[in-house]
Amino acid sequence: MSWIAKRMNRIGTESAFEILAMARELERRGKKIIHLEVGEPDFDTPQHIVEAGVRALREGYTHYTTARGLYELRGAIANRIKERYGVDVSPDWEVIPMPGAKPCLFAAIMVTINEGEEVIIPNPAYPVYRSVVEFVGGKVVDVELKEENKFRMTYEDVERKITERTKMIVVNTPHNPCGSVMDERDIKALVELAERKNILILSDEIYSEITYDKNHYSFLQVDGIENVIMVDGFSKTYAMTGWRLGYAVGPREVIDKMVKLQINMTTCPAAFVQKAGIAALNGPKEPINKMVDEYRSRREVVYKKLREIEEFSVVKPEGAFYIFPNVKKLGVDSKELVMKLLKEAGVALLHGTAFGKKGEGYIRISYANSISNLEKGISRIKKFIEKV
Ligand SMILES: Cc1ncc(COP(=O)(O)O)c(C=O)c1O
Repeated sequence: MSWIAKRMNRIGTESAFEILAMARELERRGKKIIHLEVGEPDFDTPQHIVEAGVRALREGYTHYTTARGLYELRGAIANRIKERYGVDVSPDWEVIPMPGAKPCLFAAIMVTINEGEEVIIPNPAYPVYRSVVEFVGGKVVDVELKEENKFRMTYEDVERKITERTKMIVVNTPHNPCGSVMDERDIKALVELAERKNILILSDEIYSEITYDKNHYSFLQVDGIENVIMVDGFSKTYAMTGWRLGYAVGPREVIDKMVKLQINMTTCPAAFVQKAGIAALNGPKEPINKMVDEYRSRREVVYKKLREIEEFSVVKPEGAFYIFPNVKKLGVDSKELVMKLLKEAGVALLHGTAFGKKGEGYIRISYANSISNLEKGISRIKKFIEKV
């Protein structure tokens, strides 16, 4: 007899952390590994944010806050949304900070999806969407992101998958793992479709500040939070992965229930972290611009170097810090390739299938690493491929 509940058979995992663990083990045994697997900024949190966190600790922000979080933080989130997208959300009822974007995604799905209801999800995609929908008994309906569309999710692809049981469409722009950015046309058409059919959109916009060719267009910009739950956070924009802070905005009914879930799970994000979040939102934009400029330079290097590998075909990413080369010409299973590259070439990256079945034949490289490491890593990949 196992102690484990049956529902645990339905929850997935994030392969990035498994590959990271393997890479760390190899390093412990003396092997030098270049890390291109984890989606985490390599920059330190900007100093003014760190100072605000430390100051908050000294000032006694060491207690619970309400489950909705500090009002000042909700206000700063609402202001930033107004400033960026021209949309009003009520800091009283339509905003919730949680310990990361991940808990926001979990809670949003948990409080809205009944057993058997269908949730449309891009494939490949961040693995947590599928995992949580299946965990709560929902049915995942995949929409393939196609290389010939530059991995953009299109209105037509989604529309074909709508049934009477569709409850939610999950979207992610800029996209992990493909680095794609959705077209405004598709975003508008999807929101209109959602309103017509009474469907919720769960929009993961965690990479909203990391775009290279044009400003981010949010799902909120079409019609506010009418049918949209929008998730964003601090991990990527402000290099704050370890602080654990993210937020969701959405219809009051949904946010109220997410608050109830937060009461049952974490009570609130850490109080001093919330204060640091306020400093991040209200503080200078230069540190973000500097990081994005650096990612942009790295994108150029990575794109150019990968194109020199004859067996690869590459779409130039438009946002986030990932690139998703097609390696089908090599004729090997992408997980097998990733394992070999880790053990034999000393480069850690992820197989496309870590993001869904449609990721077969692709690998994901995270360019949240220095240009010299990226150059070294891609040279190692190239040499390995030439050798075999
Ligand atoms: C698409 C996407 N959503 C959400 C997250 C989770 O972010 P957080 O650190 O805020 O939980 C990640 C992290 O990799 C991500 O890539």
